[in-house]
Amino acid sequence: MAKTIIAPSTLPCPLTEMTDYLRVLGQAGAEWLHCDIMDGKFVKNKTFDDITLSLITKKTKMFIDVHLMVEQPHLLFQRYIRAGAQSISIHYEAYNSKLELIEVLKSMRALNIKAGLAIKPKTTIKEVSMFLPFIDVLLVMSVEPGAGGQPFILETLTKIMEAKKVRAEKGLNYIIEVDGGINADNARSVIGAGADALVCGSALYKAEDKTKYVSLLKGE
Ligand code: DX5
Ligand code: ZN
Repeated sequence: MAKTIIAPSTLPCPLTEMTDYLRVLGQAGAEWLHCDIMDGKFVKNKTFDDITLSLITKKTKMFIDVHLMVEQPHLLFQRYIRAGAQSISIHYEAYNSKLELIEVLKSMRALNIKAGLAIKPKTTIKEVSMFLPFIDVLLVMSVEPGAGGQPFILETLTKIMEAKKVRAEKGLNYIIEVDGGINADNARSVIGAGADALVCGSALYKAEDKTKYVSLLKGE
């Protein structure tokens, strides 16, 4: 069984503490840095942008996993790749045209980054099944995007199991990343349902011993 990827979110950490947090996360064995980017339009909150991200990515060796909660994310790909993004997840719900979304996903692979598709809690696997052959990461939101510190939506477990089943049926190999409300109490069931990567924001930020908490999340 492959080791579960732990992807701490940047969201709970104030920029003034970020350098220290990155160092601690690297030492704690977290593999991906989940960079939550919000534009204040697709979701009501706004976060730092690519300029700040380029300073953050210089301070870590973690894999840079950017979650764009923005409108028209394709307009930002070049900027976020220049800032260090190695994977970009865009929201299915940010596009009205299926054809446009397929072209956008293809363009991401042409840019040599991992193409990620994020889906909100109400979006079904069935609705996005035609896009699955074009992605490297399926980012399954277990909270409504826009804020950290929300409770894990339990129904997500069924969606994770379905994502895993469809992947096997279609012979695909996208990573199933789960995002929102993850903590040491629910990590095992999220992994058991089929998650390959766990995003963790507030629970990890608040943990006294980050190394211990990362091991707990991995089920070690
Ligand atoms: C929510 C973000 C999540 C969030 C995770 O819009 O996409 O990545 O920051 O934070 P927690 O783990 O606190 O739910
Ligand atoms: Zn996120």
